[in-house]
Amino acid sequence: MCGIIGFVGRESAAPILLDGLARMEYRGYDSAGVAVRSESRGLQVRKSKGRLQILSDMIHGGADLDGTLGIGHTRWATHGEPNDINAHPHVSENGTIALVHNGIIENYLEIKEHLQKLGVSFASDTDSEVVAQLLEYHYNECHNMLEAVGRCLRRIEGSYAFGIICADYPNALIAARKDSPLILGYGKNGNFIASDVTAVIKYTRDVVYMDDGEIAVLTADSIDVFDDELVPVEKQHHLVDWDVSAAEKGGYPHFMFKEIMEQPEAIRKTISPRIRDGRVVLDDICLTCEEARSISRIFITACGSSYHVGMVSKYNWERLLRRPVEVCLASEFRYSDPLVDDHTLVIVISQSGETLDTMAAMREAKRRGGRTLAIVNVVGSSIVREADDVLYTWAGPEIAVATTKAYSTQLALMDLVGLYLAEKLGSVEQGEYDAIVAEMERLPEKMQAWLGDIGDVQYFASRYFNHDSIFFIGRNLDYAMGLEGSLKLKEISYIHSEAYASGELKHGTISLIEPGTLVVALGTYAPLFDKFISNVVEVKARGAEVMALTTESFCRKMEKTADATLAVPETHPILQPSLGVVPLQLFAYYVALQRGCDIDKPRNLAKSVTVE
Ligand code: F6R
Repeated sequence: MCGIIGFVGRESAAPILLDGLARMEYRGYDSAGVAVRSESRGLQVRKSKGRLQILSDMIHGGADLDGTLGIGHTRWATHGEPNDINAHPHVSENGTIALVHNGIIENYLEIKEHLQKLGVSFASDTDSEVVAQLLEYHYNECHNMLEAVGRCLRRIEGSYAFGIICADYPNALIAARKDSPLILGYGKNGNFIASDVTAVIKYTRDVVYMDDGEIAVLTADSIDVFDDELVPVEKQHHLVDWDVSAAEKGGYPHFMFKEIMEQPEAIRKTISPRIRDGRVVLDDICLTCEEARSISRIFITACGSSYHVGMVSKYNWERLLRRPVEVCLASEFRYSDPLVDDHTLVIVISQSGETLDTMAAMREAKRRGGRTLAIVNVVGSSIVREADDVLYTWAGPEIAVATTKAYSTQLALMDLVGLYLAEKLGSVEQGEYDAIVAEMERLPEKMQAWLGDIGDVQYFASRYFNHDSIFFIGRNLDYAMGLEGSLKLKEISYIHSEAYASGELKHGTISLIEPGTLVVALGTYAPLFDKFISNVVEVKARGAEVMALTTESFCRKMEKTADATLAVPETHPILQPSLGVVPLQLFAYYVALQRGCDIDKPRNLAKSVTVE
């Protein structure tokens, strides 16, 4: 959830740290801090509650701190409220060691009590400070920083990515990781650690992904990596294949808007290389027809919007595969004693590849003998390293906390995987298969055309932004799509919103519909259009204001019934959510804009949820 960065080199560290933190602020933004070591002033630590800008102003963009070695942190609070003291870096009692941490130390209380008995006093309420103090304790024992880190890691339980500097080591930055992301970057004027490639991409594309249990020692000219026994390990370098502009706003008012607009291209990149001569080809998976036939059960597990992709896919895959498909929230899956065996395929979906619940669900599935396939956006992330098979969504870096292009590419990729499996199983007729593939190839173009004229969504948002409770209703794929539309709206505009399967409304929730309640009625799934009309009439009869979303061919009929109507182009019915979700994303965006919300960094949220 938090973002960490470190630099050691031949340039002033503080501005580099601030720049990297700014690019990772989506990871957490309730406080920020840096520690920089200088020859003359020793360790200089500055931290502040609130957005990074406050810290940056406080140290004049970094100009106040001299030194070419430093660490930085942007926080999403877990242990201890967001305030100046709980902000990282944390410094050991005698002031020699400073540390930034992303993760959770589970046995921190026990260690804290032990150190307190030895007379150590603590400044903050955090689990992370405990590690800074423990490090000092071990360093005093052995007078060797690498050894002290090794001893410390053997005592702590939980997840971590650490960046550590020590006043006695003026040219070294130490890093360690377990279950929290950490990359090493090889720059021209120095070397880096960071939670995310976006923080260092301005300086280098040459990166190494640290593995669990590893410790790295960086100097301006070298990076040495060790395993948990402090034995040196050789690491594979990766060249990041996107450049800095992909992680910048590029003239757009918000990352979210930019990312919505990037969707046609992101989908194209995700699907084009995987469709050859009208057939879905997934080179990265090696699944024989026999193996496909031996699958008796399929689970899809994920969190948030990625889970909503699973909801759409359940409908589509059951249609295509004629096999039971269960969708399970990752946070529930692991505790539900899931019926997974070696005939079970478990799909995990995650943009970040770091979501702790999703990761834990995948481990549970593997433990029970299931075959795991991960759909992930971030290359080299934790989930990628443990899944049996991986398919990347090529959405590029997604910076806005609310996902848009990652959702769309996950959805498109899941449709491809569904077709791939259906072909292996022989469960779909050739004509149907061809029609879906052909329509998939047209998706980016149709979406692009629709995005060229978004005035109606903007207008409806300005008409409805003052509502304080909004319902999304739909059946089947429209219901699954509504879940995402509703989540988008609530997370960035803070309007209470719920998505309901239309048929379920009259079993209780309809009592909340009163004159003026806004209902967003979703009717893009052609086979159920008549049912859709009946449900709209039902809520209209209770005084609801209805904004309908349908397809171009049903739009006319709908205009007579609804108060406002949006239409998207037609595609194959099972692909309709890919087009339908775009107006819902934009509606949420414009509503949040009208309400003056902080669209890219909504309150209380962080992009990568690495805590349970
Ligand atoms: C909502 C959103 C979240 C994520 C969820 C899972 O806009 O972004 O609901 O979808 O936290 O994250 P990943 O996909 O990274 O596992």
